[in-house]
Amino acid sequence: MSKLLSTTAARGRICALAGVLPIALAAAQAWGAETPPPPDGLTFLGQVVTDRQISQGRALYAQHCASCHGANLEGQRNWKRRLDSGRMPAPPHDESGHTWHHSDQALFRMTKSGVGAVIPGYESDMPAFDGILSDRHIIFVLSYIKSQWPEQIRVRQAEITKQHQESTER
Ligand code: HEC
Repeated sequence: MSKLLSTTAARGRICALAGVLPIALAAAQAWGAETPPPPDGLTFLGQVVTDRQISQGRALYAQHCASCHGANLEGQRNWKRRLDSGRMPAPPHDESGHTWHHSDQALFRMTKSGVGAVIPGYESDMPAFDGILSDRHIIFVLSYIKSQWPEQIRVRQAEITKQHQESTER
């Protein structure tokens, strides 16, 4: 009986996949050959982010973040060395930095309200984007950053986001 049930369930799953595949293919074609497709199922705070939103995020990143964090997310030179002011330079947002060590919730708060919002009393050159970027636009920028990480880094950061979610639900 249980064998029968599991076979039926498996068949159901294959059918569901067959239904989704043509849509995914069409989406990949619409995205165009010159731009690599964004990673499948990229989410921010559990919400799926679309290709369009990621490309909007890329433009917003160039306009608002690249001057400090680098056009290619590479960060400022010698970003690990404290400045004479006692503050830290802008770190990279690619996998070589520590952006991915933070949950979606923390990344959102740091971008909207500054690093001091997450680490009280912390002095930083990172501006708060509240009033400059809408919540949606902050999500698009951070999703673009996430879309540039290798798969295994994205998986680890998703786990950190999940843990954050669970610890605040308790
Ligand atoms: C004027 C320069 C400047 C601009 C512009 C800027 N940042 Fe930053 N950012 C910094 C600095 C400096 C830090 C390091 C803060 C610290 O540790 O003191 C930082 C840190 C961060 C962090 C925390 C990273 C970590 O691993 O701790 C995030 C997230 C971040 N910035 C996102 C953004 C986003 C998104 C934008 C654009 C919307 C942006 N920043 C624009 C200077 C900048």
